[in-house]
Amino acid sequence: MKRRVTKAIFPVAGLGTRFLPATKSIPKEIMTLVDRPLIQYAIDEARAAGIKEFIFVTSRGKGALEDYFDHAPELEASLRKKGKDELLEVLQNTNMDSGAIAYIRQHRALGLGHAVWCARRLIANEPFAVILPDDVIAAETPCLEQMVEAYQETGGCMVAAMEVPPEAASSYGVLDVKEDLGSMVSIKGMVEKPAPGTAPSNLAVIGRYILTPKVLQNLNRIRSGAGGEIQLTDAIAEEIRNDRDVFGFRFRGERFDCGSKAGFLQATVSFGLAREELRDEFAQYLREMIALPNAAQ
Ligand code: G1P
Repeated sequence: MKRRVTKAIFPVAGLGTRFLPATKSIPKEIMTLVDRPLIQYAIDEARAAGIKEFIFVTSRGKGALEDYFDHAPELEASLRKKGKDELLEVLQNTNMDSGAIAYIRQHRALGLGHAVWCARRLIANEPFAVILPDDVIAAETPCLEQMVEAYQETGGCMVAAMEVPPEAASSYGVLDVKEDLGSMVSIKGMVEKPAPGTAPSNLAVIGRYILTPKVLQNLNRIRSGAGGEIQLTDAIAEEIRNDRDVFGFRFRGERFDCGSKAGFLQATVSFGLAREELRDEFAQYLREMIALPNAAQ
């Protein structure tokens, strides 16, 4: 029997303070990588993985996100009239079906675990995905699709995982590996943002998850953890303590941390170079920049 995952939660309530002043008036998920907002990459990845219901956990000041997914009849009519069919298609791909998208407010910034818990009634009793739009992953087969495929074999909970340098481990949820099976690892523990030097491995959680509804029940009971926040990592680790399977999945692809300025810039360069219509001009510019002594100054 196929294990179906048709719902995904997108936690988008964060204030995005690292990108002030831009995020004073626009949600960080609307910030643009080449010509598409970050959230569009997350939605496209979810669609490719077979997700049919998109649940956004938002907060005050995120109205632009709701507008972004709405239909834009005037704009569409004007493009149609001008015969701009390609643009029309680009635009129509951003439209979401009526009833496919839901917005839930997280009223207080209590952490990622709390944000996911806010969507519990819409998830009810099914496995579900969580996508953190800050983590943008360039991959031939989109990351969540890879995971849904692997999940057919495993069931349980699955988190995307990636090796990080030891000094970076304290910025992530980190896996305590029971058995390394190659692209998959079985896990005997998980720690959110371990103190420097205490990480159980250098295998970090990246923002893609397939979770059982049990994790939502665990979140009912979980108290605040690292950074005083209710952590999703702790609710998943609880599954291991209850003798249920949790796997880390080493995805094939390149991950960009678009929650940081340096990561966002790297993603911009990489996605820019990947675009056929930009590649030559952009690559030429980068070569010139690098050739110039002290170009960065
Ligand atoms: C969140 C998770 C963390 C994970 C990270 C991946 O942390 O809590 O476990 O490793 O995303 O990006 P945040 O980056 O929101 O602090």
